[in-house]
Amino acid sequence: MLNETLIIQTGLSERPRKSRLPARLDLLQSLSGLFLALFMWGHMFFVASILGGPDTMWKITKFFEGYFFFGKAYPWIVSVVVAVVASIFVLHAMLAVRKFPINYQQFKTYRAHAKSMKHGDTTMWMWQVYTGFAMFFLASAHLYQMMVWPQDIGPFGSGGRMWVDGLWPFYLVLLLLVEFHGGIGLYRLAVKWCWPNCSREFLKKLKWGITAFFLILGLATLGAYMKVGYEYQANYKNGEHYTPTWVQPPEETAK
Ligand code: HEM
Repeated sequence: MLNETLIIQTGLSERPRKSRLPARLDLLQSLSGLFLALFMWGHMFFVASILGGPDTMWKITKFFEGYFFFGKAYPWIVSVVVAVVASIFVLHAMLAVRKFPINYQQFKTYRAHAKSMKHGDTTMWMWQVYTGFAMFFLASAHLYQMMVWPQDIGPFGSGGRMWVDGLWPFYLVLLLLVEFHGGIGLYRLAVKWCWPNCSREFLKKLKWGITAFFLILGLATLGAYMKVGYEYQANYKNGEHYTPTWVQPPEETAK
């Protein structure tokens, strides 16, 4: 009765209000994706420090463990950073799953649609689904390892993982996945928000340029870890941690 009175008085019908939730979730997905893509750019440069030799990587590793601030290394700081990144990664994946085809019929319809349209951006979206799905497993394993054993990050530990433990194919696949997924993701964000301009041709060229750059950097980095892992395999097997000659042994690692 009260409702009817209100409708008559205000002239408004009882049409349900549209929910803003999907738009908010979309924005959250974009922001978390942007964060992860920018994080990965930084990550690729930090990890590439091995190209400057074991001493350079040691410095970067110890920097993140607070060694140059506190005079002692606290690997748990890295675990905290990994936990934050992993949470954003999980949030991003959960938001993305909303858009996945939920059964084989939907998947077939999408594939047929994409094939008939032959539209590059539509095909790219499907590649983002494939690579994102695969990364959910591979990146989770990597993040778990980094979070639980941060003290093993370093020239001997990282090189040994690649060479002695034979994890290089795992990293190679993860590298390809992350670079294609991130590149397409950033391109789609730029198209969506129309930045820096709306020319898809320009954005596509930029995307491929960035992807090629990080792939070359990543492959060179992978090769460098394998070389270090090969050269210092005995040290890795003995459970040693790399310490530059100019640092007094034993390495100052806080318990
Ligand atoms: C704070 C979080 C992270 C930390 C501390 C971290 C640390 C590292 C380290 C130390 C390596 C050298 C290899 C090793 O020690 O095993 C590495 C390699 C790599 N990481 Fe991460 N990582 C993080 C997050 C991620 C995420 C989220 C991804 C992808 C989704 C990723 C992808 C890769 C790839 C592809 C490589 C190989 C790079 C190459 O060889 O060029 N990482 N990471």
